[in-house]
Amino acid sequence: MPASSVDALITDPPYASGGPTAAVRQQAPAVKYSSKKPSTLHHDFSGDHHDQRSHLRWLVLWLSECCRILKPGAAVCLFSDWRQLPLTTDALQMAGFTWRGIAVWDKTESVRPQLGRFRSQCEYIVWGSQGDMPLKRDVGVLPGVVRQVIKPADKFHLTGKPVAVMRHINQICRPGGLILDPFAGSGSTLVAAQMDNYPWIGCELSAHYHQIALERVQAL
Ligand SMILES: C[S@@+](CC[C@H](N)C(=O)[O-])C[C@H]1O[C@@H](n2cnc3c(N)ncnc32)[C@H](O)[C@@H]1O
Repeated sequence: MPASSVDALITDPPYASGGPTAAVRQQAPAVKYSSKKPSTLHHDFSGDHHDQRSHLRWLVLWLSECCRILKPGAAVCLFSDWRQLPLTTDALQMAGFTWRGIAVWDKTESVRPQLGRFRSQCEYIVWGSQGDMPLKRDVGVLPGVVRQVIKPADKFHLTGKPVAVMRHINQICRPGGLILDPFAGSGSTLVAAQMDNYPWIGCELSAHYHQIALERVQAL
């Protein structure tokens, strides 16, 4: 892809997370990320098996390439869970981006409770920019917390994000700007982009999820 051609990188990469030990993390996502083991609802996907050091290296590799193809001032938003948050903020900066903050997706009290512990009800959006980000970009004030329950009818991937969450996050892109999601999964970022008149580019390794993403954007 040409240098300086994309207005926002908005993506939910494989987290390589899901447990405190390397052995647990190397289980298939359909086992790690599902209460039914394996999930009977959603297909597995690849790229989620790295240990911490190789995951950091992998993030920096593709983020560096994204830094090249983003325009100066373009926004970058990376989903992460609590375990991978420190590594994700490091990777963003190592790849050459300016780290600007963390927004929160609050999945509400619908998430499984844990007796005697804080409920793990949030995922995080590490965000920043390709260099300086002017304040005047035709983008309004965006709330830093999105509270949105996961509805089964809106979940097409093992780790699918609600379209309402993605519509909120996409607003960090300048109006009409090109959004790139290199780990599109079932296409939630792309569906949200199309709804709000942002052109988009999506990549997805799994033929199964690529097909689902295509069908979702074509149904709009
Ligand atoms: C966390 S999921 C994204 C889910 C998406 N946000 C959604 O709502 O459906 C990450 C996706 O990245 C894909 N993936 C993993 N490695 C990849 C690679 N090297 N290139 C493109 N896609 C890849 C996986 O197949 C998986 O579907």
